[in-house]
Amino acid sequence: MKTNAMQLDAPGVEGVVAVTREVPTLGAGQALLRMSGSSLNYHDAVVVWGLIPGMRYPRIPLSDGCGTVLEVADGVDRVAPGDRVAPAFYPRWLNGPPTDAGKKVIFGEGVDGCCVEHMVVDADCLVRVPDHLSDVEAGTLTCAAVTAWTAVVTDGKVGKGETVVVQGTGGVSLFALGFAKALGARVILTSSSDEKIERGRSLGADDGINYREHPDWASEVMRLTDDIGADVIVDVGGESSLGQSVLAARVAGHIGIVGVLGGFGNAEVPVTAAMTRNLKLQGVTVGSRDDFDTMCRFMESHAIRPAISDTFAMRDLAAAVRHLEGGLHFGKVAIEIG
Ligand SMILES: NC(=O)c1ccc[n+]([C@@H]2O[C@H](COP(=O)([O-])OP(=O)(O)OC[C@H]3O[C@@H](n4cnc5c(N)ncnc54)[C@H](OP(=O)(O)O)[C@@H]3O)[C@@H](O)[C@H]2O)c1
Repeated sequence: MKTNAMQLDAPGVEGVVAVTREVPTLGAGQALLRMSGSSLNYHDAVVVWGLIPGMRYPRIPLSDGCGTVLEVADGVDRVAPGDRVAPAFYPRWLNGPPTDAGKKVIFGEGVDGCCVEHMVVDADCLVRVPDHLSDVEAGTLTCAAVTAWTAVVTDGKVGKGETVVVQGTGGVSLFALGFAKALGARVILTSSSDEKIERGRSLGADDGINYREHPDWASEVMRLTDDIGADVIVDVGGESSLGQSVLAARVAGHIGIVGVLGGFGNAEVPVTAAMTRNLKLQGVTVGSRDDFDTMCRFMESHAIRPAISDTFAMRDLAAAVRHLEGGLHFGKVAIEIG
């Protein structure tokens, strides 16, 4: 059987081409999916730009996906034909804490990803997506939502009445906003744009800080919290923001080190503040299949939906990557497959 896909033949947006490929034969323990939704993460753009060391071509990109099970191999009982499912970001990290072995394989990077109409995957890595979401909505969860879940819930253990800072209005941050609000937290959102801050308020953000107007935004967080600081901070800036995150955290606060939007280099961290405030700085890499599953059930019970500002057809993948690069999106840039 043949299927349509978008494929990376070489590094750079110019290396994205439309192809027709043979669908692999179903092997033991596997499922055949008809894909319908996907989305872009900053990580996918990094893959397309050719910044992943040792990347092999050709490669079908995109870690996120939602599809319907068409067929399963004999003995597979995790999923059945007709189920709407998503592959986990790390197909070998099924549960428990992260391990080297569990994190070896990433869809759309080390193995072919979800920008394809038919896909054969190990059934073990599949998660049933929330019933209340459309296929395109469910196709935005794999990377950004699970990462936000880890930073806010699994590691951050956010509780009612606590204060959470989310940085910018990209995919991870708006999922973090949704989870923190569902848990009864107060959310302070930072953004480079006043207009995006207003959109963030309409999704439940309690306060907004323009980080362009206030490069020392930690002092604004202190002002808004009566000099106490935030309980949990989801840091996506890295080099440009980690120092401010330390200064914005309260005693015994938690900082999830998630992103590198402000540069891949070294951050200047005020070590004395990190020590005297007893801070926990925790690196995050998405989460396991079971984390993804737990998050989907939470989204169902709280009717949480992704914020999607733009949807592109699969054949327009290159334009979608350029759009993400432009930074005008709010939340997710979705991809309709098929
Ligand atoms: N560790 C992990 O497991 C993991 C998983 C997913 C993502 N990530 C990382 O997390 C980061 C965010 O990913 P994403 O997919 O959510 O990206 P995204 O959707 O492209 O979000 C980009 C948004 O972040 C804001 N931003 C840009 N530069 C910033 C800076 N220097 N400081 C603070 N905010 C900034 C901007 O929002 P405004 O326009 O509102 O300012 C921008 O629109 C990326 O670095 C990505 O690689 C890591």
